[in-house]
Amino acid sequence: MSESPVGSVPESQPGQGPGLRLGIVAESAPGEARVAGTPTTVKQLVALGYDVVVESGAGAAAAFTDEAYAASGARVVGGAEAWGSAVVLKINAPSDAELERLADGATLIALLSPNLRPELVTKLGRESLGRPVTALAMDAVPRISRAQSMDVLSSMANIAGYRAVIEAAHEFGRFFTGQVTAAGKVPPAKVLVAGAGVAGLAAIGAASSLGAIVRATDPRPEVADQVRSIGGEYLEVVVPEESKEVSSDGYAKATSAAYDARAAEIYSEQAADVDIVITTALIPGRAAPRLLSAADVASMKPGSVVVDMAAAQGGNVEGSVAGERVVTENGVVILGYTDLAGRLPTQASQLFGTNLVNLLKLLTPEKDGVLRLDFDDVVQRGVTVVRDGESTWPPPPVQVSAVPAPAAAAAPAPVAGAGAGGGPRKELSPQAAATRRYGLIALGILALFGVNATAPAPIPQHFTVLVLSIVIGYYVIGKVAHALHTPLMSVTNAISGIIVVGAMLQLTSDDTLVRVLAFVAVLVASINVFGGFAVTRRMLSMFSKD
Ligand code: NAI
Repeated sequence: MSESPVGSVPESQPGQGPGLRLGIVAESAPGEARVAGTPTTVKQLVALGYDVVVESGAGAAAAFTDEAYAASGARVVGGAEAWGSAVVLKINAPSDAELERLADGATLIALLSPNLRPELVTKLGRESLGRPVTALAMDAVPRISRAQSMDVLSSMANIAGYRAVIEAAHEFGRFFTGQVTAAGKVPPAKVLVAGAGVAGLAAIGAASSLGAIVRATDPRPEVADQVRSIGGEYLEVVVPEESKEVSSDGYAKATSAAYDARAAEIYSEQAADVDIVITTALIPGRAAPRLLSAADVASMKPGSVVVDMAAAQGGNVEGSVAGERVVTENGVVILGYTDLAGRLPTQASQLFGTNLVNLLKLLTPEKDGVLRLDFDDVVQRGVTVVRDGESTWPPPPVQVSAVPAPAAAAAPAPVAGAGAGGGPRKELSPQAAATRRYGLIALGILALFGVNATAPAPIPQHFTVLVLSIVIGYYVIGKVAHALHTPLMSVTNAISGIIVVGAMLQLTSDDTLVRVLAFVAVLVASINVFGGFAVTRRMLSMFSKD
């Protein structure tokens, strides 16, 4: 299938830009404060050749004034003109009344949930609407690397995960961080995040940066490193290998009964221990998996807070109510808010608007303000729900490139307590692993005594220092977060300073060969030292908040 221009310029106004009129309309859903475009994204849309119009007041609730839109190159117009545009950008799906406002041949781009709302797909069709429109669903962007810049679900989940922590902190009566004050010692809050997808990782990052102790669960073992790299502890649900799931499309598959049973035990233990639980577990196309039972919530301490991010999909927590704040008999607050991203409307509008701009860049390759749909492109095909009045939903399944590397997928789960190291390993039972560890230690001690008893001086002394250095180095480096390994390694380059000093002492040697070797040693070791510091500086600046 080939590219085809979509839409026409309805009543194109003289003196306006050459491209199609693109309207950013106000949201009508109660409580919705977001808007599908911001002054920043308006500039980008104008640069794509569109004649951008914004409905007056559309951005007010997200702190974007009409004047700011006008200064960015949009015309601020009434609702009728914005809705009559060739391309209409919106956050939420249109109401029946709004559908009637779409122009003949218009393209609507919004969150349409076509899987959950087949009736809306029918209403968007020519037979129901009486005229052809094209509808693109922003929530149908395939989860592939190339489409990440258009993935509004991830953008919104990221904001929502952060906001879930802020809501929890607002309800919680203590600090998240531990403190030692003149008035006494304050323990850090303990946070459990169930589900380490986009929202879960954002929640882990936010809670750990507030100073809490954060633990996380997820059936996809590949997220363990991501959890650790942002300050969380990954609680592995240990089950037989065949009942584990590795995602093939960036989303989880249904968990096995063995997994659910073991996970339920972990949630019961954790509920009694932690102060905050944030649940984000989701398996696409299914009701949210139930993770915390009413008994688990009842075992939590009074004043604890649960944020059930999946409340709209049926809830991960027994007792949560979509959109509501519930307080249980034992004083636990359960938040089932479904508008967490919208609670940061300025940020959410900016990210949503940028996702839209990125989609429109793909749809406007000539930057001439003419929208072209190319059905050979999986992203464009994937988001198209209705094309020129004909339903094109569902699209063919996308073969997703975000599949984890086969070696990693096939590798057995890491043995608890095993040291870091790549490559597939043979799985050992905990007893076998312990036997092997103690056996190796005994062998090492024997070798140490053997060398010390037989080798001539000063070898035993040097050998003892070497063995102790290996043991201490192994444990010290093993405790450093993965993300800091590179700076650590570059700092250890400073050890080359010892070589520099030793080589300098040899520079006065009578032997020419020794002097040459000493010179080379000073040169190479100095490069190592200064290079190490330069790399460390660069790495640390990546972690700097400024
Ligand atoms: P995601 O698909 O990126 O992450 C979901 C995670 O749950 C995956 O990592 C998956 O492996 C994990 N999971 C699946 N089954 C599990 C189980 N039994 N136990 C533990 N983890 C399990 O989804 P995303 O984008 O992070 O969204 C998470 C949830 O947050 C969804 O339910 C979504 O609808 C909701 N959400 C809620 C918002 C709100 O305002 N309340 C706003 C945005 C998203």
